[in-house]
Amino acid sequence: MSTPLVLAIETSCDETAAAVLRFPGDLLGQVIASQASVHAAYGGVVPEVASRNHLAHVREVVEGALSQAGVGLGEIDVFAATTGPGLASALLVGSAAAKGFALALDKPFLAVNHIEGHLLSPFFGRAEIPPSVGLVVSGGHTLLVDIAGAGRYKLLGRTLDDAAGEAFDKVAKLLGLGYPGGPLIEAEARAGSRTRFEFPRSMKCSGDFQFSFSGLKTSVRYLLPKTAESDRADLCAGFQEAVVDVLVHKAVEAAKSCRRDLIAVSGGVGLNARLRERLARAAEADGLRVLFAEPSLCTDNAAMVAYVAALRAARGESSSLEADIFPALGQTLFAVA
Ligand code: KG4
Ligand code: ZN
Repeated sequence: MSTPLVLAIETSCDETAAAVLRFPGDLLGQVIASQASVHAAYGGVVPEVASRNHLAHVREVVEGALSQAGVGLGEIDVFAATTGPGLASALLVGSAAAKGFALALDKPFLAVNHIEGHLLSPFFGRAEIPPSVGLVVSGGHTLLVDIAGAGRYKLLGRTLDDAAGEAFDKVAKLLGLGYPGGPLIEAEARAGSRTRFEFPRSMKCSGDFQFSFSGLKTSVRYLLPKTAESDRADLCAGFQEAVVDVLVHKAVEAAKSCRRDLIAVSGGVGLNARLRERLARAAEADGLRVLFAEPSLCTDNAAMVAYVAALRAARGESSSLEADIFPALGQTLFAVA
């Protein structure tokens, strides 16, 4: 299959999404039904609510993506879905739907790792994946990965507790800002001082590529009663700077240690303008290049899942219909020692 036409479904967290992609990068249709406003009332994603909403919307996103693409189900070569990591009951919805199509239409099924979707999203549309170091910073994960090529990864480090996006979300909740927290904190931080409140740079000098963000959140919590409403912008700016500082430092160190001259940034926190600005500057100072995923590909979407599936289908790969979902980080691609 040299230029497979893929239909991919993404339901790992709180976005129900479907995309139709012609390998390598011709995105013919995509519909994303976000549940963010539903979960905002709870200050975070409620798994049971998420899976019920996926069930309610999966059909319309698939039909919408197909109709945008102007293709019928029968023309799809490969059906793909995110099978992990993510919320178990949410993953089951997209995975069952894609398997159902594959079974009914006698076409291959491809099980896609959500993290691989983020990891390769900066290269969206390319037929080859260049050697690089990937920084995945999302609501659920923070990872540094050495990328030798498509499907050839080595996990360099990850967060030992909260993900970077999760820290933004939790701090935003503490400050009463709403959900998702990243864009709200970034907006508040614009008017704030980055140095008035000095927050810890946990594990910055640990000499490895692991991260820890939960202590940072705790420092905000302890400081909060001693501050006033008018200090909020400074708190946000100081917190954001601490997160960005560690991410930039470790990403550059990882690239140097793996002798890669390219850093590929993906995931929702990759939208953060301060991260983009500081990483671009730090990389340049070390003669490295940085490639950020397109903004529309940073937060959860089905196009990145379709892209991974298309790369693998073009190499003749497929998955068993018995492939189970895997809610945790994953035993194979990003093996955790
Ligand atoms: O990649 P994504 O959809 O999450 C997972 O797959 O887990 O990204 C969502 C995360 C949320 O935690 C959100 O607060 C964060 O990305 N985020 C940001 C920004 N925009 C979204 N964090 C910092 N700055 C932003 N501008
Ligand atoms: Zn994600």
